[in-house]
Order: sequence, then C-alpha cells, then structure tokens
Amino acid sequence: MVGKMSILVTGGAGYLGSHTVLTLLQAGHSVVVLDNFSNSSAVVLSRIAQLAGRAPTFVRGDVRDGACLRNLFLKYPIQAVMHFAGLKSVAESARQPLNYYLNNVSGTLQLCQAMAEFGIYRLVFSSSATVYGDSNEMPLSEDSPTGVPTNPYGRSKLMVEELLQDLADAEGRWGIAVLRYFNPVGAHKSGFIGDDPNGTPNNLLPYISQVAVGRLKALQLFGNDYPTPDGTGVRDYIHVLDLAAGHLCALEAVGRRSGLSTWNLGTGRGYSVLEVISAFERACGRKVDFVIVPRREGDVAQCWADPGKAFRELGWRAERGLDEMMADAWRWQLTNPDGYKESGV
Ligand code: WQD
Repeated sequence: MVGKMSILVTGGAGYLGSHTVLTLLQAGHSVVVLDNFSNSSAVVLSRIAQLAGRAPTFVRGDVRDGACLRNLFLKYPIQAVMHFAGLKSVAESARQPLNYYLNNVSGTLQLCQAMAEFGIYRLVFSSSATVYGDSNEMPLSEDSPTGVPTNPYGRSKLMVEELLQDLADAEGRWGIAVLRYFNPVGAHKSGFIGDDPNGTPNNLLPYISQVAVGRLKALQLFGNDYPTPDGTGVRDYIHVLDLAAGHLCALEAVGRRSGLSTWNLGTGRGYSVLEVISAFERACGRKVDFVIVPRREGDVAQCWADPGKAFRELGWRAERGLDEMMADAWRWQLTNPDGYKESGV
C-alpha cells in the first residue's frame, strides 16, 4: 500500500476524473484538481466533497498553460500526476484534428516538461483501447499490435504513448503507467456524480440513458450487419469505479518501479449494443426506442480486453457486472435528468 500522497488530477472534474478523485480522497490521499471546465462542471467538486467528507483543492486552468502548471507545482507539493485532461470524441476529432493534437499531445508535453522541472516523475496516463485500431484478434492484450487508429483522437493517444516511452527510455527517474481504457460506463452508487457529456452524447450509454429519461427520442443504432453474434457492435464495458480502482493500483506501481508499463483496464467480457440496450431496459424498467441506421465511420466490429496483465502485476480486476453498471448509470440519470446543469447543489 503506497503511503498517503499529494496527487494532481488533470481533468479531475470530468466523468472518469471525478470518480478517480473521489476514490483517491477515500483512500486518504490529498488531491489537487486542475480543470478548465471545457467538458465538465464546477458542481462536481461540491458533490465529490459531499461524498468524500472533504474537498479536493481546485485550480481552474488548462493543461496547455505552462505558467499555470508551474504556479501550481510551486504552490502544492505534488508527488504524482494522474492525467485525464483531454478531448475524447472520435467523431469530433475528425472535424477538429488540430484542436485534438493541441489538447491531447501538446497538453501532455507541457505537463511533462513542468513535472520534470519540479522533479515530479510519477505519471498515470489515460489512454484508450482505440490505439489497437481494427486489425486484431480478440481478446486484446497489451502485446497486441497498436494498429492504425481510425481517427485523430486515437492517433493522439498513440502519439502520447510513444512520447512517454521516449521520456522513460531517456530518463530513469520516470515511473509511468499507461492505462488503456475500454468502455467506461456507470456511476457512483449515490447517483451524485456520473457521465454528463456536453451536447448530444457520442457514446452509447449516455445516449440510451437520455432516451430512457425522455431527453432524447430514440437511439440511432449504428449498424446491425457486423460479423458479431447479433450483428451489432461488441465492446468491453467497464464500471467507472472499477476503472478508478485500477488507477489507485497503477499509482502504487509507479511508486515502486521506474520505466513505462502499459495495462488494459477492461473486464475481459464483450457485450453487443442490443445486449446493452436489453440490460439497460431491465435496469430502468422502461423501453429504449432505437432505429437501425448504417454503420458509424471509424467504428470497429468488436473490441474487448484480456485483462490478465493488470491482475498479475497490479492485483486488479473489474468486479462489477453489466447489470450493476446499468443500474448505477440509470440512478445517476434519473436523479439528474439534465445532468449537472439543473442542480444548485
Ligand atoms: C459503443 C457501441 C457504437 C452510440 C469510443 C472511443 C473510446 C472511448 C469510448 C474515450 C458501438 C454503438 C454508439 C450511438 C450506437 N472514448 N453506438 N449508437 O466507439 O466503442 O469507443 O468511446 O475514452 O476511446 O473510441 O464507444 O459508446 O461510442 O460506442 O449504436 O449513438 O455503441 O456503434 O458499437 P466506442 P461508443
């Protein structure tokens, strides 16, 4: 068990970041959150404080702003960084590649440069299974070839993985964990924090939960002609709190080993879109209307993890099943029909 540390969480007001910040606070760590609220809300911070019984320190700023980072490191004795801040829409990245490379790649470079200046060499990086592209056998292991990502978002994640490897190869003091997320879904059991994307959701779960709560009319199901059991896309959905727990284990790992290590954070089980819709309907007791439309550009047929390496090396594995993921996702949506917007809390 790593001693209590002071951790910077970039993007800590976002969906994945907020659940990880809560987990870190509950484990006794001190947390500084850096967020520019480009895809998150200040309300999250008070919700986290209510759940944890204490608040993280908050700095409003952008990870691309070197001066902001240096002022933060001057003011707070940070010992490790969890880097979530970045843009993450596959579709949007194809429309705005420069914005994605500036945020995801340049932002990480600024962060690493400021970290090194202050002698901070422990980093947990938020990567994605998207780096595997579309050319692999399932399940995906960390040794599976990182194919050719099908979009600028995926390419930006792969570029960052490669530049972090160069840093670790050149400077032995770096301890870096690259975590390849599969499909994070669900929410904290309280319903206080959850996934609240800006505008119309790109991802399946927030879309179907907004249909169920009446904000959206029907899901567009992107293709039922894939080479999968029921023709719809298969993904490895993982509960966001299992993902957060994986970050805690990775933090301990970077504290005791130098170099760069990569771990898949997935359950090892794939579910199709139709299976997810049925599971969500069971959880919410409502019908989720959908219409089948052509495939979405850039989608792969199937993607699920071999999570064995994280279990062997980190002692971590996902514990929550699909029904629990759906129930927790629905509780968040039902408690917050308009996400964080409406709340004054
Ligand atoms: C899941 C399945 C769709 C929406 C992406 C990124 C990944 C990560 C998660 C950031 C697919 C189908 C979806 C809809 C649908 N992003 N679908 N109608 O594309 O697997 O992964 O988001 O961390 O890096 O690549 O997730 O939720 O968009 O799609 O039919 O309106 O649901 O075709 O089969 P995806 P998703």
